[in-house]
Amino acid sequence: MAHNSERHIRIAIDGPASSGKGTVARLVARALGYAYVDTGAMYRCIGLACRRRGVAVTDEVGCGAIAAQANIHFEWDGEVQRVFLEGADVSQAIRRVEIGQAASDVAVLPGVRSALLDAQRALGDAGGVVMDGRDIGTVVLPEAELKIFLVASLGERARRRWAELAKRGTPQALSEVESEIEMRDAQDAGRSTAPLAQADDAVRIDSTHASPSEVASQVEGLARARLDGLVATS
Ligand code: CDP
Repeated sequence: MAHNSERHIRIAIDGPASSGKGTVARLVARALGYAYVDTGAMYRCIGLACRRRGVAVTDEVGCGAIAAQANIHFEWDGEVQRVFLEGADVSQAIRRVEIGQAASDVAVLPGVRSALLDAQRALGDAGGVVMDGRDIGTVVLPEAELKIFLVASLGERARRRWAELAKRGTPQALSEVESEIEMRDAQDAGRSTAPLAQADDAVRIDSTHASPSEVASQVEGLARARLDGLVATS
């Protein structure tokens, strides 16, 4: 497939909940001047839209129709990226714990996944993109030039999400946060369509003892090496 110029690669970052994908992806995108596509935010938008319209997350036809018609876009706001659903800023609303669960529920449905897949591939095809999620290296962008699988211990991931919720003014018990993450990971890894999985050619990074900026520098280094390699062989 003829695609993007050698100066613009596609970077896929996958991993379980709260492994730091979003922060790392955003930092790498900023450093390289690339677009950042948060596919988890897209599933969260569909979970939110289904909730708001009273469509059960088990209703594949109803949720699929919502996903096919949803108008989702991203906009940079300084260092953060805001998420818009039907033109309204839903950046805060989609981060609620129950919307994470609704996202994971609708993400099981093949009809929802195929509707979002087209949009995600279109966003990735131009190159110059960092995309994060669960199935980016395996399904959405299997030809991505750089694939990262980012992991961290369950305890550390729960602690991060717990701190984030407290900071946002919606505190929750650490044990509850941990079981929610564990449940969602099991559902994401166990589903039959595009489960959470490491691609064979992905670089596995454990962020349990590393800060987001340390991991981002490592990913940026790998990306620059890929870019140099592409220039050298072109
Ligand atoms: O931020 P966090 O890691 O908790 O989750 P997220 O990336 O916002 O994704 C929310 C949910 O969307 C996940 O639990 C998955 O079920 C689903 N998802 C997916 O199925 N495929 C993707 N490429 C991205 C997210």
